[in-house]
Amino acid sequence: MYCSRLALSLYRRMRKKVTNNKVREIKLGKVRDKRGNLSIVESEMSVPFKIERTYWIYDVPGGEARQGHAYYKSKEFIIALSGSFDLFVDDGQHTTTFHLDQCSKGVYVPEGCWRHLMNFATNSIALVLTSTKYNPKDYIRDYNIFVELKKGGKL
Ligand code: TYD
Repeated sequence: MYCSRLALSLYRRMRKKVTNNKVREIKLGKVRDKRGNLSIVESEMSVPFKIERTYWIYDVPGGEARQGHAYYKSKEFIIALSGSFDLFVDDGQHTTTFHLDQCSKGVYVPEGCWRHLMNFATNSIALVLTSTKYNPKDYIRDYNIFVELKKGGKL
């Protein structure tokens, strides 16, 4: 009991509002407890957007990849809840590949970034928190179109 209170007070001290809009890894912290650890995501706090929708990708065959795409408006925060996978992100200026394998951290992907999930380990679960409701018109599914929109400053 004492142990979990101490861990919770440490988590609260670490807790601060995240505002920067760049692609990056965000550590969520961990409330350590011998009964099992706990991590927390708070809307507009640990992630710099209001969480509107949550979905998860699971039962992905080992080594498989999901189709890449970008969004005009949607911001995302992606966590490996279980297992591991790689997340490739192109923000139009830099490309980065993140290896996600801990559920106490995630990657923030703002709008206007190409992102691709790949190299799933068997039984992995990708949790995706997003800033918008599902809208197929928000997707850019062609990488060449994404590059053209970025070059023209339209994204
Ligand atoms: P999609 O985002 O296209 O995944 P990927 O680019 O990895 O293939 O989603 C796959 C299907 O799931 C698509 O037909 C639409 C549906 N879907 C929803 O209905 N709501 C959602 O919030 C999401 C993410 C997908």
